[in-house]
Amino acid sequence: MKKVLIYKGFERFWHWTQSVLIIFLAITGFEIHGSFSFFGFENAVKYHNIAAVILIVLIIFAIFWHFTTGEWRQYLPTFENLRGQINFYLLGIFKGSPHPFKKTTLSKLNPLQRLTYLGLKLLVIPVMVTTGLLYLYYRYPQNTKIEALNIDSLAPIAILHTIGAFLLVAFIIAHLYLITTGESVTSNLNAMITGYENLHDEHNTEERSVNTENISESRV
Ligand code: HEM
Repeated sequence: MKKVLIYKGFERFWHWTQSVLIIFLAITGFEIHGSFSFFGFENAVKYHNIAAVILIVLIIFAIFWHFTTGEWRQYLPTFENLRGQINFYLLGIFKGSPHPFKKTTLSKLNPLQRLTYLGLKLLVIPVMVTTGLLYLYYRYPQNTKIEALNIDSLAPIAILHTIGAFLLVAFIIAHLYLITTGESVTSNLNAMITGYENLHDEHNTEERSVNTENISESRV
């Protein structure tokens, strides 16, 4: 076992800031939706818009970081051992089977994580940002139509935005459970707080830890 830097400084900042913002957007968003009352509708709209702008700025920085560090490669999908990973979560985990995926700094996401995170990055988040911005800037119909978009109502935009919100809430619930299924209950959580995790494959991780530390020093 070797202690290896898995999550770099910006990555952890981005992860936790994004989590807080998305949870806050879900709370204010579902208040706007009418699910409950806490801040009051007017305030919920105001806070939702502010958090949305901060999230969009964060996303722009995160895109830049992923491409300049080459970390975007972590999300390239693979179907290799996908079934093994699913079987582990459905059955193996309850029988004490070993983890089918061995994490390295070069490849830190299992096949299921790769697919899920890629789906979030390429589909759910872009849909939320696009529908959110349309919602924001085309809110007031002109002459009973939203002329700039040539559509009769905001309903399709609101429905897509709400479906995306449900998907994100479902993701957060599944994510909270899955982070407890690492080598120990808290190992994944600790790694995202401290950046470091104890990994098995010494040669692979040692080599990469030197590489990625160099990358992070020069680029983060
Ligand atoms: C990232 C960019 C986002 C932008 C620009 C944005 C913008 C907006 C706007 C302008 C509204 C309508 C407010 C009004 O009626 O005055 C809205 C509603 C809503 N937002 Fe967002 N939002 C974003 C992200 C999110 C996220 C991440 C979530 C949830 C996780 C979310 C959940 C909701 C919900 C549930 C509603 C109510 C939808 C309805 O009932 O029609 N939003 N959003």
